[in-house]
Amino acid sequence: MATSIRPINKNDETFIDDVIRKEWGSEIIVVHGKTYKPKELPGLIAEENSKTVGLLTYKIERNECEIVTLNSLIKHKGIGTLLLDELKKTAERGRCNRVWVVTTNDNLNALRFYQKNDYKIKKIYPDAVEESRKIKPQIPLIGENGIPIKDEIELELNLTD
Ligand SMILES: CC(C)(COP(=O)(O)OP(=O)(O)OC[C@H]1O[C@@H](n2cnc3c(N)ncnc32)[C@H](O)[C@@H]1OP(=O)(O)O)[C@@H](O)C(=O)NCCC(=O)NCCS
Repeated sequence: MATSIRPINKNDETFIDDVIRKEWGSEIIVVHGKTYKPKELPGLIAEENSKTVGLLTYKIERNECEIVTLNSLIKHKGIGTLLLDELKKTAERGRCNRVWVVTTNDNLNALRFYQKNDYKIKKIYPDAVEESRKIKPQIPLIGENGIPIKDEIELELNLTD
């Protein structure tokens, strides 16, 4: 089944709200000392037969494009990669020097996914999640694979090479 990617529009508000609350525990994302409301950000939607199957939200600032959230609702079918590819084009059009993302130490799946898509680990912030948890207590103590969620890991795709 063909998957298509399009920018989000006003009609997607409920879908975005539902996905963010369900997948990220509340309507806000707290990361590297910043609080984001994904429903107020630009984003990309993946669709299959008019059914929404993926969401990426991002922020472009000072020639840098940050991935704020990325969720594939049907895993291992190429949806995440399609969203990432489309974001790269968007970032290039926006004259960005890089696309970057912060994930956490427990998220081995995301670390694998980004690195296999040419993203490189740039920085590690030990214990940074403690600060985020003060603003967003819904961030679990234990994450995927039973690993305590503690550190933030920044990855980037350099667009100047
Ligand atoms: C990380 C995430 C976005 C990846 O999305 P995804 O749609 O599963 O990604 P893809 O399908 O493009 O790629 C995943 C794997 O499926 C494989 N795949 C893609 N299409 C496939 C197909 N048709 N058949 C079999 N395998 C396939 C890819 O090759 C890749 O395998 P690899 O890890 O061995 O390289 C998804 O796991 C997710 O939503 N995670 C939860 C939220 C999260 O952590 N987000 C990232 C932090 S912001």
